[in-house]
Amino acid sequence: MNASPSATLLYNCSAATLDLSVDASYGLIPNAALLVQGERLAWVGPQSELPEALAQQASLRHDARGALVTPGLIDCHTHLVHAGDRAAEFEMRLQGASYTEIAKAGGGIVSTVRATRAASAQELTRQSLKRLDALLAEGVTTVEIKSGYGLALDAERKCLKVARFLGGSRPVDIQNTFLGAHALPPEFAGRADDYITEVLRMLESLHADGLVDAVDAFCETIGFSTAQTRRVFEAARALNLPVKLHAEQLSDSGGAALAAEFGALSCDHLEWLSESGAQAMRRAGTVAVLLPGAYYFLRETKLPPVDSLRQNGVPIALSTDCNPGSSPCTSLLLMLNMACTLFRLTPAEALAGVTRHAASALGLHDRGVLAAGKRADFVLWDVAHPAELCYRIGANPRIATVFKGNRLDV
Ligand code: NIG
Ligand code: FE
Repeated sequence: MNASPSATLLYNCSAATLDLSVDASYGLIPNAALLVQGERLAWVGPQSELPEALAQQASLRHDARGALVTPGLIDCHTHLVHAGDRAAEFEMRLQGASYTEIAKAGGGIVSTVRATRAASAQELTRQSLKRLDALLAEGVTTVEIKSGYGLALDAERKCLKVARFLGGSRPVDIQNTFLGAHALPPEFAGRADDYITEVLRMLESLHADGLVDAVDAFCETIGFSTAQTRRVFEAARALNLPVKLHAEQLSDSGGAALAAEFGALSCDHLEWLSESGAQAMRRAGTVAVLLPGAYYFLRETKLPPVDSLRQNGVPIALSTDCNPGSSPCTSLLLMLNMACTLFRLTPAEALAGVTRHAASALGLHDRGVLAAGKRADFVLWDVAHPAELCYRIGANPRIATVFKGNRLDV
């Protein structure tokens, strides 16, 4: 409870701490104060309970004028680094072609692979920064970015380096995930097992370059089988890298159970998740990342089994899935609204999904809640109640973001 003289006090706010020791909902403290020391929170609680000695150590005092404070938002599943768009496929889908049909006809992910391979690192950076800036404008302070539109060593390296560069260019933490097993590149047509061998080679090399924080795969009829996914996970395990999985998006392929076997941080999409898959996730402590943007944009009708996740006590996170094919979305606030309207999450569940549980989905335990000792990543909002963050459509009530204790006007 010692604060150095350089501590900053934020007072006259309400705080949705998402801290379970406050309450199991928003962790709401109506008349709150936060003390920031360096990159960390030194104290969070009711303003009236702030110890006088700590209050006096704050050399800077900031009146939040009644703003709501939440943890910095965390977008835990994106494919943000890519080139081009798939607006033409959007038109085709509206005329009746399905996502799967387009993928099988050589479009889909592979068409973005062509554009991404052709783009220079500079051009990729330019296009990707626009998307990142849109996320930051809504209070995002941590973003996961997957590779998976290179599908060859040099192109995957280019994308992961761009992702690292983005992290150095903006006040945000970027977590890199290697998704070499995203789709079969044309040069490996009919040779999926050989491509997985190449994925393992890429993983080793990219890991040696320090470019990989986690490993993901697309386990699906139009992606890779559980046997192929297992090979990728075994290689990740050998390198001590955590795994995640695009699982049960279009069919029940048994990916969630496989991922749970490897102690996956998260399984993502999950519309077709079975009861036994949910139980396996519960046992492994795997987070369910739901992606309402992809569900909406692909005009899916099968809802993820939210009740089963709740009953099994599987933590639910939410993300934009920002990508050109299934979710060309750069608004995490819109995902809050869609998760409530489409998936019937409560606003408190939705907010936990982009803070506390999103942090767990990335294996980051130093953020996602407002509590002493956690990182001073937080957002001031011009709203009276946290449910308003989920309720509005297309509004952005962000006043300011604080990233690692620094006040920003991003
Ligand atoms: O999360 N499902 C696989 N990957 C992405 C979509 C990628 C694409 O269509 O470009 C997803 O939905
Ligand atoms: Fe995805």
